[in-house]
Amino acid sequence: MRAALLIVLGLAIGIIGTVFVMNALEDRNPLPHAMMVTMSFHRHQLQQEIKGQHCDASATVEQLQSMQMLSKDIPAAFPDAPQPFLDLAHQLHSAVQTAAQSAPADCPALVAALKPVDKVCGDCHKQYR
Ligand code: HEC
Repeated sequence: MRAALLIVLGLAIGIIGTVFVMNALEDRNPLPHAMMVTMSFHRHQLQQEIKGQHCDASATVEQLQSMQMLSKDIPAAFPDAPQPFLDLAHQLHSAVQTAAQSAPADCPALVAALKPVDKVCGDCHKQYR
């Protein structure tokens, strides 16, 4: 009898503990992380173009436009971010927009267009990552 009670109690504690842990994991906002992983995915796609020496103008612009849209969502994805962080997010948006508008037609042009973009990534990571 006593053993059965202990087993039931143990199960109950296990279930309650699992619920606690799951709630805690859900509370951690997954969006900032997910957004940065997606951002680096598009940046990586561009790197693959450069590495393969195959920089197709329309494929390039598509990647840059995705990065542009993502950068616009940074302020919403990082709630309570300080103003200098938001300024850097805005800088990234401008840098990616300029790169997209320059419509790099070949790999050297793409490398040059990405330089100011990469600089903003680095500037923000140095301070906030
Ligand atoms: C305005 C600030 C800011 C800018 C600009 C920015 N990042 Fe980030 N990045 C962050 C922060 C903060 C983190 C840590 C977020 C986290 O993991 O919760 C991060 C994390 C990352 C990570 C690591 C994700 C992981 O696996 O944990 C990658 C990759 C990344 N950023 C790529 C980029 C790229 C590529 C750019 C430029 C195109 C960029 N970021 C621009 C703030 C920024």
